[in-house]
Amino acid sequence: MAEKKKIVIVGASYRAMHGFLNNIRDSYSNEYDVVGIHDLTIEKVEDLNECFKSNYKAYDDFEKMMEENKPDIAVIANIDCVHIDYLEKIMAAGVTTVVEKPLCIDAEQCKRVRKATELNPSVEAVTAHNLRYHPASLKIKEVLDSGRIGNILSIQFVESLDIDHGTSYFHRWNRAMKNSGGLLIHKSSHHFDLLNWFTGSYADEVFAHGKLLSYGAENCKFKVGEMAETCHECKKTKEECAHRLDLSGPRLEMHKSNLKAGLYTPDLCVYSPEIDIVDHACVGITYKNGVHANYTMCAHSSVESMKIEIEGTVARLEYEIIYSTAPDVKKSDGEVSTHQQHLRVIEFNKPIEEIEIPPVKGSHGGADLLMCKDLFGGEKSDAKATLEDGLQAVLVGIAANESIKTGKAINIAELENA
Ligand SMILES: NC(=O)c1ccc[n+]([C@@H]2O[C@H](COP(=O)([O-])OP(=O)(O)OC[C@H]3O[C@@H](n4cnc5c(N)ncnc54)[C@H](O)[C@@H]3O)[C@@H](O)[C@H]2O)c1
Repeated sequence: MAEKKKIVIVGASYRAMHGFLNNIRDSYSNEYDVVGIHDLTIEKVEDLNECFKSNYKAYDDFEKMMEENKPDIAVIANIDCVHIDYLEKIMAAGVTTVVEKPLCIDAEQCKRVRKATELNPSVEAVTAHNLRYHPASLKIKEVLDSGRIGNILSIQFVESLDIDHGTSYFHRWNRAMKNSGGLLIHKSSHHFDLLNWFTGSYADEVFAHGKLLSYGAENCKFKVGEMAETCHECKKTKEECAHRLDLSGPRLEMHKSNLKAGLYTPDLCVYSPEIDIVDHACVGITYKNGVHANYTMCAHSSVESMKIEIEGTVARLEYEIIYSTAPDVKKSDGEVSTHQQHLRVIEFNKPIEEIEIPPVKGSHGGADLLMCKDLFGGEKSDAKATLEDGLQAVLVGIAANESIKTGKAINIAELENA
């Protein structure tokens, strides 16, 4: 039997557990061993071990983990702003790298990614754009590539995050530009990557508006000083503050040691002055191949949904997914168990054609399972996102942020060369 390949995980995160460790343990334990997990503290990794009922070796010294294990693959799944620091070191060590999205968060970091790829051309490195592997995305791509709608002319894309999911970004580290680059990078890089992938092109110019309408100090209805920094320290009841969050379940288990040590917990006050990201944005994008797209992100919606309309020279393709908001259909890990979705092709003057989307079980609508099959199983697909793809998705978000700040249209090439 061939020797097992060694994987290290950088970041004892929720994502590491639900996107990678579960799939590796369930489906690839004959081929791969997770030999170490790194985080800021050993205790944070131990929290994951307790939550996941595992016994992975814990490291708070990244170099030691790499040196001791000489891994074949490293998965980077810690907070967005530090992905680049680990990517540089892992690629320099010649180790196959899987980086969570967003690949990086600003133009300076984009340059560092390019440098790392230039210095290590033979190292295999991918961006974990799992949304490409959602059965609906795969089907949309198949329909587009079949020529069924003709040449793509324009796209409308609307992403709405509900008050559970959307608000969660304002309770966590993601709410600060310095950590995540804001939702237009942290969240929308998923969607910008899809747009790039669907159009078969990269963005040329971006214009955006954005506002913080629901969270942050300016939208707080309480008096200054009435709120604590975290919900678990706050005296406001759920009746008084709709965004009060109970630190319980995996949210608590994964941060037990941090809570004890008075460190970060994911129940930060959503009205904090630290919040400097937008919760609503409209982004206009022109593509190098002439496609014109508009994208809206809303993080304070009553319902979670995604709507995509792709207008072609022969037909329109439209996709919509609406997740149920009823609390009884939400699973404890935050995944939504029921939803309605439809995919349609509508030719000019022809009846509407419904297209079936094959169901796949698992987190993110089966996307994580299919991505892991591509990354770790023998089933290779064309959906794998390169580092260049990861960069191009992030560049749209960086340009959108810059456009919001300056009120100007941002040319991607100029942004990169500045
Ligand atoms: N592809 C997807 O569907 C998807 C979904 C969720 C999250 N993500 C990505 O996964 C990553 C983890 O997200 P999460 O929500 O699971 O995070 P999390 O909050 O659960 O974990 C983040 C980890 O990073 C560690 N960390 C914090 N600061 C650090 C630093 N300076 N250096 C090293 N480590 C540090 C924390 O201790 C923590 O364990 C993010 O990049 C996020 O964008 C992807």
